[in-house]
Amino acid sequence: MEAMDLKELLKSTYRDKKVLVTGHTGFKGAWLCQVLKMAGAQIKGYALDPEHDNDLYNLLNIKSYADSVIGDIMDAKKFGEEILNFQPDFIFHLAAQPLVRLSYEIPVETFAVNSIGTANLLNSVRALNKECKLILITTDKVYENKEWVYPYRENDRLGGYDPYSASKACAEIVINSFRQSFFNPNDYHLHKKSIASTRAGNVIGGGDWSKDRIIPDIVKALQKDDPIKIRNPKAVRPWQHVLEPLTGYLLLGARMVENPVKFADSFNFGPFIEDTRTVHELVEIAISKWGKGTFEHLQLTNAVHEAGLLKLDINKAINELGWYPRLNAEKAIEFTMEWYRHFEANPVEFTESQINSYFNWKN
Ligand SMILES: NC(=O)c1ccc[n+]([C@@H]2O[C@H](COP(=O)([O-])OP(=O)(O)OC[C@H]3O[C@@H](n4cnc5c(N)ncnc54)[C@H](O)[C@@H]3O)[C@@H](O)[C@H]2O)c1
Repeated sequence: MEAMDLKELLKSTYRDKKVLVTGHTGFKGAWLCQVLKMAGAQIKGYALDPEHDNDLYNLLNIKSYADSVIGDIMDAKKFGEEILNFQPDFIFHLAAQPLVRLSYEIPVETFAVNSIGTANLLNSVRALNKECKLILITTDKVYENKEWVYPYRENDRLGGYDPYSASKACAEIVINSFRQSFFNPNDYHLHKKSIASTRAGNVIGGGDWSKDRIIPDIVKALQKDDPIKIRNPKAVRPWQHVLEPLTGYLLLGARMVENPVKFADSFNFGPFIEDTRTVHELVEIAISKWGKGTFEHLQLTNAVHEAGLLKLDINKAINELGWYPRLNAEKAIEFTMEWYRHFEANPVEFTESQINSYFNWKN
């Protein structure tokens, strides 16, 4: 699909539609709100307070255009009331505890927020008496990781070594159970809910300040002229710019409008296989885009287990949705480093200019 067609499809799908974004105070949620704003949607957000002053949520002044509710998805009553009061046409569920290393420190909370939080959402939607498309965000880490070179497909076995990955695999099981039990595609004409899950790889982009994530670590070191410390230089991840999976989620929503039964399914979103890079390669490209910098390998004696090799098969999204990655790894890293270099003068303008260049980008 050509970029301009995609832009028009998103506008015609989301203009004046009620869109609930959970996790709108986070990195991906804030970018999603900005794209939805540009498409003309009526947005409501539900999430915990942003953690830093320079979070995208604050920089983009999201509460100036979205109905921003600060609340916990574990507070089932409040969460349910906010959903039903809003009467959404679409729900993008991003609220989660998303960090692997933190999940070793707070495993029970991670399981609760990621799986029961998802169940709270789906349970509330049972009382929503209108058409609604739900796009529920899990991760590429939901697959049982065999540490092999073959990319994972949507019908591969679910698993999860660390608590984060396992909690998201649990979320997938919750989603599938609700889809079969309460929102069965065969009974769509009765309940009018279309439920999809999306599994994207590691995303990079401006405005991520999370602890223990590679790009924020790189940027903090480069800004201070310190060497970048890397934990697993050989780890291979499907890096992609944040706008890639977000466009995939939005395009999936558009396809669900066209055919709510067929697209009530799971989809992977990742880079082309040739763009899957090691941490080492990512750091080298980031330094070259920044203009200067050094790195060193951190030898950890008490490191927790993190997956080494993870590749995603994206053929289903390409063939069924007409989605494909628009930025190669180098361009994705360039977009990211440019954001951190230039955002301060006018974060809204710079972020919107990147969204516009992404939609006009031709490979
Ligand atoms: N960033 C990545 O590389 C990546 C990769 C794959 C999947 N994901 C998934 O995408 C989603 C968004 O990730 P992100 O990178 O923007 O994370 P983030 O940490 O920046 O944002 C998380 C959001 O969830 C909200 N949240 C957390 N616990 C909550 C609770 N109990 N109640 C209400 N809101 C709560 C936070 O307030 C925040 O708005 C997550 O579901 C994550 O698992 C992220």
